[in-house]
Amino acid sequence: MADQDSISARISANCPPETQQVLTAAWAHDVESVRKLLDAPGKASCQDPVTGETPLHAAIRACGAPSEDDTPEDLEAAKKTVYELLLWGGIWNDVDDHNETPGCLAHRLNRPELYRLCVEAGVRAEMLFGLLEGYEELSSGEEEEEDYVMMENGNGDVEDGDEAPELVNAGENGQSGAAEEELEVAEEEEEPKFQPPKTDAYADDVKSEAYLRSKLTYSDGKLVDDDGNGVMMAWETDIMRQSVDALLPGKEPGKRILNIGFGMGIIDTMFAETKPSVHHIIEAHPEVLEHLSTPESSFGSPWEASGPTPGAFKVYKGKWQEVCLQLLEKGQIYDAIYFDTFGEDYAQLRMFFTEFIPGLLDGKGIFGFFNGLGADRKICYDVYTEVSEMHLADAGLDVDWKEIGVDMGELAEAGKGEWEGVKRRYWTLDRYQLPTCTFLG
Ligand SMILES: C[S@@+](CC[C@H](N)C(=O)[O-])C[C@H]1O[C@@H](n2cnc3c(N)ncnc32)[C@H](O)[C@@H]1O
Repeated sequence: MADQDSISARISANCPPETQQVLTAAWAHDVESVRKLLDAPGKASCQDPVTGETPLHAAIRACGAPSEDDTPEDLEAAKKTVYELLLWGGIWNDVDDHNETPGCLAHRLNRPELYRLCVEAGVRAEMLFGLLEGYEELSSGEEEEEDYVMMENGNGDVEDGDEAPELVNAGENGQSGAAEEELEVAEEEEEPKFQPPKTDAYADDVKSEAYLRSKLTYSDGKLVDDDGNGVMMAWETDIMRQSVDALLPGKEPGKRILNIGFGMGIIDTMFAETKPSVHHIIEAHPEVLEHLSTPESSFGSPWEASGPTPGAFKVYKGKWQEVCLQLLEKGQIYDAIYFDTFGEDYAQLRMFFTEFIPGLLDGKGIFGFFNGLGADRKICYDVYTEVSEMHLADAGLDVDWKEIGVDMGELAEAGKGEWEGVKRRYWTLDRYQLPTCTFLG
């Protein structure tokens, strides 16, 4: 992409002069000029109408890949520029016409210090959205036409210009009329852009309800819904194995285990092998429950009847949001709890560990979850790993992350290998951050 990363390729002939000035100053790492030019809200997040270049992209792209000609002063100037732009409301996750955020660009150019600044900005922004109780809906490209023209809040409402800098939409930043149209034209030609952070492949409340009504197909190492979304896939088996190892160190028999989300039963099969004294499963989808009750299933009524005491081995039918209330009322306590649902957003995971874990987990127990938040884009994944760590701490939980490799051989290309027959490649990373959570102190 070398030529495409040149200033002439990135600042188009159609770029309005005001935007051009900011982009040029950012490209030159001219912090003083950048500061002077950013005299109105939203200017730091202006975009070239054709290339989608923002000042953050420009400041990072100008560095290129590390070379012998680099001086420490160059890097310092770049860092100062990026920092200044972020301070003035530069948006960490705006995508350009190559579907790259400034952070994606910093990663591609092997500029870890600049990448780090973008991650920190993302964490700040997402923590703020969390406080405002509306997680940022990072546009998926499937449902919107104005992808990098505007940002949306969690309710799908366009933010207005009075919000915090990160919430200002680009369409209000001095780009109007023809410029916006060009952005939209550029967008239509592009692949889908950004996907929101999710506990799994897609999510929000309405989608969760729709998912729970959808028809599912178990086949050939995967479970997909009627829209072709991968609910669970066999390639995640190693992640499940390592999650069991983390939740049950030493694999002593007699542990009390709760698993939320049966899916393909991969983790439950592993849990069962450890000979627990209590093994509870919560599952809400009627077709998964039907699958569970077939004679071929290892978790049907014979399994339930084989528990050491009545009710010790049990599939709870229903949404965890309701079943967990019953479990709390009963005073049920577990040594290990795993959470891996589908079609729910991060707010649900956060609610689970904030409101339910304190009552359900033994003081010395271990909690884990499938960490698939934002896993279709490295920076999103890194931001959400840090955001969840902060929220876990708020909930009184300490988290230990174990980085494990993911073999991308069969996962590298959408529609091919493991992704054949699956609508969206929800995992694109060769590293998985496996969380092991215990109570603080
Ligand atoms: C990704 S799969 C779990 C895969 C599982 N870890 C395994 O090893 O096979 C997610 C499961 O969560 C279930 N689920 C989704 N929302 C739920 C909810 N609110 N309550 C309970 N189960 C839910 C889905 O029906 C699906 O079976």
